Amino acid sequence: MRSACDVPHLRNNTVRSLQRELDSLKADGLHRWLRRVDSPQGSRIRVDGREAIHLAGNDYLGLACHPLLTQAACQAALQYGCAAASARLISGNYDLYPQLEEQLARFKQTEAALLFSTGYQANLGVISALMGSQDVVFSDALNHASIVDGCRLSRAQVRIFPHNDLITLERLLKQEISTGRRLIVVDGLYSMDGDVAPLREIVGLAERYDCMTLVDDSHGTGVLGETGRGAAEAMGVLGRIDIETGSLAKALGGFGAYVVGSRTVVEYLINRARPFIFTCALPPAVPATVLKALTIVDQEPQRRQRLWDNTRYMRAGLREVGFEVSPSGTQIIPLMVGEPERAMRFCQELLDRGVFAQGIRYPSVPRGTERIRLTVTAAHSKADLDAALAALAEAGRTLQLV
Ligand SMILES: Cc1ncc(COP(=O)(O)O)c(C=O)c1O
Repeated sequence: MRSACDVPHLRNNTVRSLQRELDSLKADGLHRWLRRVDSPQGSRIRVDGREAIHLAGNDYLGLACHPLLTQAACQAALQYGCAAASARLISGNYDLYPQLEEQLARFKQTEAALLFSTGYQANLGVISALMGSQDVVFSDALNHASIVDGCRLSRAQVRIFPHNDLITLERLLKQEISTGRRLIVVDGLYSMDGDVAPLREIVGLAERYDCMTLVDDSHGTGVLGETGRGAAEAMGVLGRIDIETGSLAKALGGFGAYVVGSRTVVEYLINRARPFIFTCALPPAVPATVLKALTIVDQEPQRRQRLWDNTRYMRAGLREVGFEVSPSGTQIIPLMVGEPERAMRFCQELLDRGVFAQGIRYPSVPRGTERIRLTVTAAHSKADLDAALAALAEAGRTLQLV
């Protein structure tokens, strides 16, 4: 039997319909394209052929190009090669993975940890493994796309509560009387808004209404809390979150992701989380890199200090220029613009003035809340921040934002 792909006019219809959709994304200012980067990550970056102050990444502690991390990656590659070439459950379980898992569990004060290939897969894997059609997930409206997709894949009933709205969350928890598993899921530090979830209250609600908690701390790990343990430490609930996920590709300067929790949860995930089971282990250089990053997080608190000094400096400077700056106080600073075209124009005006900060549009953020997302890192100098503030002021005036 012939399939649609074998019939040229049907195939052409499919391609034409894809093109129509792309055209409509362009018309709505929502079309995405890839920029070329040809420098290492750092306080400056070479993007689309020009040098710019880098305010668009997530390398919050300036570790992505740290010589000790690079050295650790090279040593592991020399010892084990470039690839594990198999899933961990088949033949790819190098000793470096359990070593890193032990360190991560210790770092987060939990019983156990499990590595995933990406933060996206960690959320997808945990939620779809733990939750099913008889279960209910209570999910913050601004949760990361990987959480949204994990909920969809799980087929669980999903109750979305407005961002950080504890009153609605409690109402939903009271209303929902299903006998299945119950899970509250939030980001620790919201990637596009820069605010921290009220974890103490959320843990309290979870305990009162017999729910598990899942916190994605991709942006808080290494950064928040006295010792960089993340949002749970900052909110005084370290060790009281049932399951935490987080990308290792942000402050820890590596790649991949962790899940931490009880031994039972980790054993369950090894047996049930399809994005863990059916994928190749990370290249051995990756856990070697992150092991080094964790040591630096512990031994160099001055990096966090510099990050917070820079963050305060940037936030104060933006307010002085006339921008409305959210009160969260973290290193992620959204400047609200409103429409997608304006967000991208702001981005271009900045790039023309030697600053790279990405315009963020739907569906990364809700429609009408398009913005420029600035991120400050420990690697920025005061001179970088002064130059960036001058460019932001000029571009902001051009767009009549200040
Ligand atoms: C909150 C959050 N969770 C998960 C991810 C995915 O992490 P990764 O890049 O490791 O897939 C990201 C990255 O964009 C994120 O911001």
